[in-house]
Amino acid sequence: MQAIVLVGGEGTRLRPLTYGTPKPMVPIMGVPFLARTMERLYAAGIRDVILPAGYMPQAIMDYFGDGSQLNMKITYVIEDVPLGTAGALKNVEQHIHGRFFVLNGDVLTSMNLRGMIAAHEKKGGIGMLHLIRVEDPSAFGCVVHDAEGRISSFVEKPPRETAPTNEINAGTYLFEREILDFIPAGRNVSIERETFPQVIAAGKDLFAYTTDDYWMDLGKPEQYLGAHVDILEGRMPMLDIEPGVPYFAEANVAIDPTAKIGPNVVLGSGTRVGARAVIRSSVLWDHVTVGEGAVIDEAIVASRVRIGSEAVVGKGSVIGHDAVVDDGQVLQPGARLGATEPIKR
Ligand code: GDD
Ligand code: MG
Repeated sequence: MQAIVLVGGEGTRLRPLTYGTPKPMVPIMGVPFLARTMERLYAAGIRDVILPAGYMPQAIMDYFGDGSQLNMKITYVIEDVPLGTAGALKNVEQHIHGRFFVLNGDVLTSMNLRGMIAAHEKKGGIGMLHLIRVEDPSAFGCVVHDAEGRISSFVEKPPRETAPTNEINAGTYLFEREILDFIPAGRNVSIERETFPQVIAAGKDLFAYTTDDYWMDLGKPEQYLGAHVDILEGRMPMLDIEPGVPYFAEANVAIDPTAKIGPNVVLGSGTRVGARAVIRSSVLWDHVTVGEGAVIDEAIVASRVRIGSEAVVGKGSVIGHDAVVDDGQVLQPGARLGATEPIKR
């Protein structure tokens, strides 16, 4: 079976991080998120992956190459202009040979893909959508279905008061190749706003696969941080991570013994933390330098950032690649610091 991982989005809600790193390459516990997704696909027996990309594709291609190091085959199809979540599928039609998975490239979940294949084989139909229940469905696609799971309507990002259900599209689909016949070629098409409603209107069976697995869309800073807290506290299982430690440090990290780190901190490789620094609930990427007495709370700090001595990084701040926080500088809560456009490589 093949899988298509949608990796063409610009990651606007994660700026300035995504001015330096495309969203699929943003690290989760030190590993590019897409690499973790590839591992998951591999474990489900999938060896053939198609990546419709467009935003900073070179960073993805440099890391994965043709996939042979993962014992997989990776095909890249670059969109000159974004084609949308369905247009991207139509654009790779010639590479699709049969039944296929589609994954939103920013969804962290423990859902078992083999279980979904078995469920689809039992139900039949043109496709199956993984659903999850959430408190507030207004930021997602709401999916209404009957007791057998047959989907009757799909409403993308409804206002909270009008949301018909709290079961939402969790961003993993399993389709028969026939779904491609419903997508027009050569223009931007949204699978959520156009294709799903059309497929349902045509009387084709789309089934729901609702689970209560761990699930998080990593598209916003608070979700990205929240996912790390969930991994460190053991709610999202990850094979290479032992939950319960105050912080997780990669290779070549130097921490002054008087620094206070934790809970729920990730320190990327080559990071240095000075005396008396305090870091709580934050994710630092590689080669970050934290000066003496600096305080960092609930922040995301990208590669090679330098945080000066006695600087304060307020809660919810996001600091982009190579930025410098001066000695003694105080960043207000929710600050954004760093590039204001994609960084040329
Ligand atoms: N190739 C390509 N081309 N990929 C794209 C494009 C495009 O034009 N636009 C978006 N993508 C990719 C993004 O990179 C991401 O991996 C995925 O498609 C979904 O886009 P998001 O921008 O993250 O969508 P969302 O989070 O607002 O909503 C989607 O995901 C929710 C679950 O996380 C929808 O599918 C919702 O219905 C769903 O509930
Ligand atoms: Mg998303």
